[in-house]
Amino acid sequence: MILVTGGAGFIGANFVLDWLNQHDEAIVNYDKLTYAGNLENLASLKTDTRHIFVHGDIGDSQKVCKMLAEYRPRAVINFAAESHVDRSIHGPEDFIQTNVVGTFHLLESVRAYWSGLAVSEKTDFRFLHVSTDEVYGSLAKDEPAFSETRRYEPNSPYSASKAASDHLVRAYHHTYGLPVLTTNCSNNYGPYHFPEKLIPLMIVNALAGKTLPVYGDGQQIRDWLYVKDHCSAICCVLEKGRLGEVYNVGGWNEKANLDIVHFICTLLDELRPRTDSKSYREQIKFVTDRPGHDRRYAIDARKIGRELGWKPVETFETGIRKTVQWYLDNQRWVNNVQSGAYRLWLEKNYAERDQ
Ligand code: NAD
Ligand code: DAU
Repeated sequence: MILVTGGAGFIGANFVLDWLNQHDEAIVNYDKLTYAGNLENLASLKTDTRHIFVHGDIGDSQKVCKMLAEYRPRAVINFAAESHVDRSIHGPEDFIQTNVVGTFHLLESVRAYWSGLAVSEKTDFRFLHVSTDEVYGSLAKDEPAFSETRRYEPNSPYSASKAASDHLVRAYHHTYGLPVLTTNCSNNYGPYHFPEKLIPLMIVNALAGKTLPVYGDGQQIRDWLYVKDHCSAICCVLEKGRLGEVYNVGGWNEKANLDIVHFICTLLDELRPRTDSKSYREQIKFVTDRPGHDRRYAIDARKIGRELGWKPVETFETGIRKTVQWYLDNQRWVNNVQSGAYRLWLEKNYAERDQ
């Protein structure tokens, strides 16, 4: 079997669902269930004995070591992280604890387990670390997209904490020979995306008749990838990736934030028109920018294509339509994640910006 950490979050849950759809091999899913972890994402697996959920923190070495000894996975895929840039600006400590200290403890636990495996199991074992393009910093308008050899220049507490975790993973390969793989992916979107991030927040706010808060001038560029394409890239790297290598993953879909918001409004105008027949664009409001806001990300995904034969299936147009439709069809999921704690976050993040 394989072990995933953070498998109750957005990408992790999509990965678990897709994996069990495509493989017979079981999954142990280890997750702390922070505000971002939601077992409702995995409700369809309630009676599936191939999914084993274990509640815990990647920093809890005792629990992780016990679990590794009990389930003896052939691979560990590390999704667990604090993932929201704005939250890292308001409170960086959790990001250091989970993304840096937690990854370190996880690596130590995995190294101890791996060292004790029989030779053939040791050779076949993999530790795949899921990381982000944000570690490379911000691109100027005409600069080439991030390749795997791009210098690390993280600008937010979130990206700095992910950069630190990437360095630790690399060091465990070079120093201890741990068979690691790292993926650095661009912005994901799709089902089960927590509505604190741009795309789900805009869909949910639009439908609730709330403002659509665009930071700064809305001309920041992100490179969007449908989450299921990210999951297929991870499977591909797990199966065929060269040990110790880094693979950048992206959808060749650079878009300005304001264009994304316009896209969503146009789709909602078609699929769920406002009762007053006006466009959802009327709800757009420009608000104070994010401090240290990276201007542009773009991923050069040629290496994973050339070496491993991976390419995305969805275009932005097909992926965003599926996503908007998913939110329209899953209002109950949205209502359930909008807990008291989530409402407090919205007040904290947007109150200052609205002034
Ligand atoms: P998410 O915030 O939706 O989910 C994170 C999950 O990790 C949650 O289920 C949470 O409960 C769990 N978790 C947090 N701290 C933990 C801990 N200490 N121990 C165990 N579990 C813990 O995040 P996501 O968007 O699904 O991102 C998953 C991974 O992919 C992260 O490492 C992130 O940096 C990376 N990534 C995300 C994107 C993106 O666009 N969302 C893009 C590239 C890379
Ligand atoms: O690039 C990969 C990264 O993408 C991942 O590593 C992160 O985990 C993930 O959260 C995401 O980070 P971003 O900061 O790019 O995503 P977010 O959805 O928060 O914001 C996307 C862009 O939209 C960014 O330029 C900020 C802007 N934005 C965001 C929000 C929430 C707005 O203009 N208004 C908003 O209300």
